[in-house]
Amino acid sequence: MFSLPLTDRASLQPLAPWQAAEFADFVARTRTHLAPWLPWAHTITDTDTARAFLQRYADAQARDAGSIHGIRLDGELVGGTLFRTFDAVAGVCEIGVWLAPEAEGQGLVTRAAQRMIDWAVGERGLARVEWRTVPHNARSRAVAQRLGMTREGVLRAAFPFLGERLDIEVWSLLADEWRPGEPGAGV
Ligand SMILES: CC(C)(COP(=O)(O)OP(=O)(O)OC[C@H]1O[C@@H](n2cnc3c(N)ncnc32)[C@H](O)[C@@H]1OP(=O)(O)O)[C@@H](O)C(=O)NCCC(=O)NCCS
Repeated sequence: MFSLPLTDRASLQPLAPWQAAEFADFVARTRTHLAPWLPWAHTITDTDTARAFLQRYADAQARDAGSIHGIRLDGELVGGTLFRTFDAVAGVCEIGVWLAPEAEGQGLVTRAAQRMIDWAVGERGLARVEWRTVPHNARSRAVAQRLGMTREGVLRAAFPFLGERLDIEVWSLLADEWRPGEPGAGV
């Protein structure tokens, strides 16, 4: 299986439906950490629901409309990234990310997102990469900032989640703002 190095110990790899049991275990052990931010941390409760989630992204990848990737540290699944949307015709994609708590604070997601932007902008020629987060997710906002993204504004009450309607901040990076191989501060 291909593997894109992030550090000496970490890599970005495909995450496929056949890895559903491992992904379900990952979600189970990180659920309390991910659940305040990610709807799927509530709905993935066993191997079948994990497989269905991964299959949606496998199907999207086959349509060139999205993909999902695992971040591994010393071989262990500790996080991931996805193209939640990928529209080559419109030239726009959206990146999503997550990490186990013990894998935070090492720049793994910043590096992984940089690889994804290199591919989306550099190889596929997309014009715009989006990042969406609730305003109180400080660590997510910090990654967007570290990537050199611009906060464009707020979609008010756009996200129905846990019985509330939350605001969503939209951040973006345009192709001419991205310098391939010259990642943002600190990397
Ligand atoms: C959002 C999330 C992925 C961010 O994780 P993170 O570890 O803060 O992000 P990175 O992997 O890019 O690491 C950045 C941290 O590593 C540090 N770091 C160390 N070496 C670094 C390097 N070479 N490059 C960048 N950062 C580096 C940074 O200083 C920063 O640490 P700090 O937050 O203590 O200042 C994580 O908090 C998470 O999974 N949250 C729950 C799920 C979630 O909210 N997902 C996003 C929904 S919108």
